[in-house]
Amino acid sequence: MKRVLSGIQPTGDLHIGNYLGAIHNWVGYQDTHDCLFCIVDLHAITVLYDPETLGENVEFVAAAYIGAGIDPKKAAIFVQSHPRTHSELHWLLACHTPMGWLNRMTQFKEKAGKKKDQASLGLYAYPVLMAADILIYQADEVPVGEDQKQHLELARDIAQSMNQRYGETLFKLPEPMIQGPAPRVMSLRDGTAKMSKSDPSAYSRILLRDSADEIAQKIRKAKTDPHPLPETVADLEGRPEAKNLLTLYGAMTNQKLEEAMKIFAGQNFSALKEALTEACVQKLGPISSEINKLLQDDRAYLRTVLKDGGEKARTISEKNLEKTYHQLGFKV
Ligand code: TYM
Repeated sequence: MKRVLSGIQPTGDLHIGNYLGAIHNWVGYQDTHDCLFCIVDLHAITVLYDPETLGENVEFVAAAYIGAGIDPKKAAIFVQSHPRTHSELHWLLACHTPMGWLNRMTQFKEKAGKKKDQASLGLYAYPVLMAADILIYQADEVPVGEDQKQHLELARDIAQSMNQRYGETLFKLPEPMIQGPAPRVMSLRDGTAKMSKSDPSAYSRILLRDSADEIAQKIRKAKTDPHPLPETVADLEGRPEAKNLLTLYGAMTNQKLEEAMKIFAGQNFSALKEALTEACVQKLGPISSEINKLLQDDRAYLRTVLKDGGEKARTISEKNLEKTYHQLGFKV
């Protein structure tokens, strides 16, 4: 059975980009693949964070995974820091990763901004830890949103160069799986910018736990353009807001973009906004009530899920880490 691994940072509420770009697609692997879904707390501390809320955020993401359809009986859900192995493999990989490769990472440039010298070494090394998360399980496939493509290419480059040096059996080359109806969800305030947790405007993103009113308000305020909605995908060229809202409507109603476009062709944005609001409420309502139920009544269950998942992750990753040390020449 092929192995799938992916993860999300516990940095507060998740948005529909995280859902459509990642979790929604993970659900489909559970019956056919050996699945490991990680909550990447070590990545969450690469920028300034609040130690008081880190634990709560981890449990929230666990609840979100389950609420959005991951079944802990089929897939292991675990916390990245629980097996200490990821940090350890990170060091072995770091010693083989040229700084030139990391200098090309666009996410570091975006996150560090103009204050590059003040950014942490951890933020710079973020993609190496991510490579460790994947390679330590010999994962075959990694389903992520489009923004993670460059990081996955780096993970493959590290694996390939270490395999050349230490033997082809060292690491499996992971396949990036960038798929689903919306691999890159854009901001509601600017169709050319990615929907992101760090955007200062709360109106730029819809959160999994937003109420029906909040969803309606955010979609009502979403940026549009002055033209009626077009008929063909080609006509979406140069109309990023129309493309994003139509893509979201398709994704939320399990329809292809072309089908969604047929419904609204020639109409103005208000019809689309109304239908999109309804679709988001329908889709997210049950997820958010399940998350709230788990967080209110089932904390003990969440902790058991994370403990069981952590044990599975520890068993696999310790064995692979041992093998890696050995192959790198640590014999005693
Ligand atoms: P994070 O927490 O930033 O994002 C989690 C997942 O959500 C996807 N995503 C999006 N997809 C579509 N549209 C968007 N606007 C959008 N925003 C976020 C991301 O692509 C990602 O799949 N570095 C990873 C976490 C990570 C990881 C790993 C992933 C750490 N180790 C190992 C896979 C395998 C990240 O960015 O998380």
